[in-house]
Parts: sequence; structure tokens; C-alpha cells
Amino acid sequence: MTSPMIDLRSDTVTKPTAAMRHAIANAEVGDDVYSDDPTVNRLEQMVAEQLGKAAAVFNCSGTQSNQMAVRAHCAQGDEILIDESSHIVNYEAGGAAALSGVSLRVLRGRGGLFDVADLEGMVRPDNPHYSITRLVSVENTTNHGGGRVWPLAQMNRVADWAHDQGLQVHVDGARLFNAVTAGGYSAREFVKNADTVSVCFSKGLGCPMGSILVGDAESIRRARRARKLFGGGLRQAGMMAAAAIYALEHHVERLAEDHANARAFAEAVSTIDGVQLNVSDVESNLVFFGIEPKLGTAAQLSALLLKRGVRLNSMGTQRLRACTHLDVSRADVLRAAELVRECVSEGFGNLKDAATSAYSAR
Ligand SMILES: Cc1ncc(COP(=O)(O)O)c(C=O)c1O
Repeated sequence: MTSPMIDLRSDTVTKPTAAMRHAIANAEVGDDVYSDDPTVNRLEQMVAEQLGKAAAVFNCSGTQSNQMAVRAHCAQGDEILIDESSHIVNYEAGGAAALSGVSLRVLRGRGGLFDVADLEGMVRPDNPHYSITRLVSVENTTNHGGGRVWPLAQMNRVADWAHDQGLQVHVDGARLFNAVTAGGYSAREFVKNADTVSVCFSKGLGCPMGSILVGDAESIRRARRARKLFGGGLRQAGMMAAAAIYALEHHVERLAEDHANARAFAEAVSTIDGVQLNVSDVESNLVFFGIEPKLGTAAQLSALLLKRGVRLNSMGTQRLRACTHLDVSRADVLRAAELVRECVSEGFGNLKDAATSAYSAR
């Protein structure tokens, strides 16, 4: 019997549990475009209350939530201040420009985090030559930045600065509950000074799909209009909202296990010769590590691991990412680390059929 794949590509690969499927099957539904879906309405109210905001809108994906927020806050020709590693900059198909005519002015933060010193001088003066600086966007946890967690005080400094400049603040909280698990603050505390926040259900929370955007009533009204415009109006979406409610009630506390598994994987992999990994950089469920070029490329290592039963993503020529989640155990991650060790010691630099695509945002 072949052993099942250990899939560390992303926390988006999880399959709904039997109990979640039961919640999905039993959901009360209606037409959400008419605001008639009681389960969607319940979810929106529940998350708005939890995050201390006036309104929320359920939608298909984190990308859609972020793009709805961009549209809600900005007009054509406006500009967003955002870290260079962020999902909105790199992995949303140029959506801010394509859908809303908005440009992104990138900041060189650290691990996806930036501070007031990085923002000083970045608001453009009122002058017809310039775009209008409108929004600051924060990603927590950071994805490509390395799964880093924003400290609460830093978030508040950045948000206060933005508001003092007359800017709005969006939080891409695709993994907000991971941040909360690691950060020692509540979701409500973290987003207190944000104008809008997107949260994904299809990542660590283990749902088949879905994201929610929360904020003040006017921003969410505009975002709901953008959702329709972007083709994201939902009908009997209560089935997916039921999964999200189930996840909020049952899958948040367990995120600590994913973080501990990520740490265990990182500790094991960090001792392999030729691997560059600082265990103290691992703050949530994402583990990024480098491999020395003399060993081969990340794509080659990832291709060899695939043959041995482990999937993980290459994130550039020498960088890989492993992501822990609901569907991998401690034994799985330790086995995966052992297989990385095996592959490194056997050598993979001559492998010819390595995947060439380094897409691995999720
Ligand atoms: C930080 C962040 N924001 C947004 C998204 C987009 O989510 P989706 O894949 O649901 O569009 C992702 C997906 O990985 C992400 O990591």
C-alpha cells in the first residue's frame, strides 16, 4: 500500500471534516443577493460583532474581499501604500489596477511588516501630477513575508499615523486567526483601528471556500456593490456560510497545533546541512526555508520530494514554503522533515523534470 501524500503546499488544501459537511448539508438557505439567506446573514452579523464593526459581507475568496475593499476605499487614480511582499501586490492578478484603476506604492518592510518610519514622506502632496494616496494596507499574518505576526502596538502606530494623514486602513487578515493565536491579542483588538478587514475561511479554518469583509456600514455598502460588479453576487450561499460558522466555533483554538507542528518541522529541517532556516522566524503555520544553490534549486527539491510523497511549494529559485494545517499531523510533519533530509543528502541538483512554475502564493 502506498502511503498518502503529506501535503504541505498550503492550508487551502484541507478538506471539510464530516462534522463540517453535516453543518453544510443542514444549512438553512435563501437568495443572498436579496439578503434572504439566513445563514449568510447570521455569519455576517456574527463576524461583524466579533470584530467590533458595523457590517460584513460574505464572498467567494480572499482575493475578492481584498479587491472589494480596494474598490470601496479608492477611486481611479488613487494609490495604496503596501508592503512589497503582500498578496495584493503579487498574487491578485493586478486586480487593483485592472478592476479599480488603483496603483500600489510598495514599501520595503521586514517580513511583510512595516512601521511609521517606512511610511513617513510617502503621502503625495495635493498636486495634479500625483496620484492621490488613499489607503494603507496591512497583511496579518504575512504570507510571502514569512508567516510573521504584527505586534498590536505596531499596528496601532501605523493605523493612527494613516488616520492622521486622512488615509483609510485595510487589513488583509486572510490568516487573522493565526495571527491572533500567535500574537496574544484578540481579533477585535487587532482590527480596532482598521477601517476594513478581510478574513478567509478556506485556509487554516478548513472551509471549502469563503471569505468575509467587515467594516463600517458605508464601506461595506460600497464593497457589496463591488462584489456584484466583480461577478461575486451569491445565491444559496448559506451552505458555505454554515461551514464558516462551524469553523469559527470549532477550528480556531486548534490553530495552535498547526503552529506547534510548523515549529517542530522547522526545528528538524533547520539542522540539515545546506538548509537556511532560522527557527525563531517561524511565528505561525508557515515555514520558509532556503537551500544553498550548490545543492540545486527549490523546484528540483520540491520535485524530488513529490516523488517521495511530500508536497511543498517552491517560492523562488532557492526558497521553499511548508504550510501546516488541519489535515497534517505531528507525525506527518516529522516524516516530511526526514524526507527533506534524505533528499538533501542524496542530492537533487541533477533532477531534470523539476516543475518550472514557482507559483505558490496560497
Ligand atoms: C495573505 C493573503 N491574502 C489573500 C489571499 C487570497 O485568498 P484566496 O486564495 O481565497 O483568493 C491569500 C491566499 O493565499 C493570502 O495568503
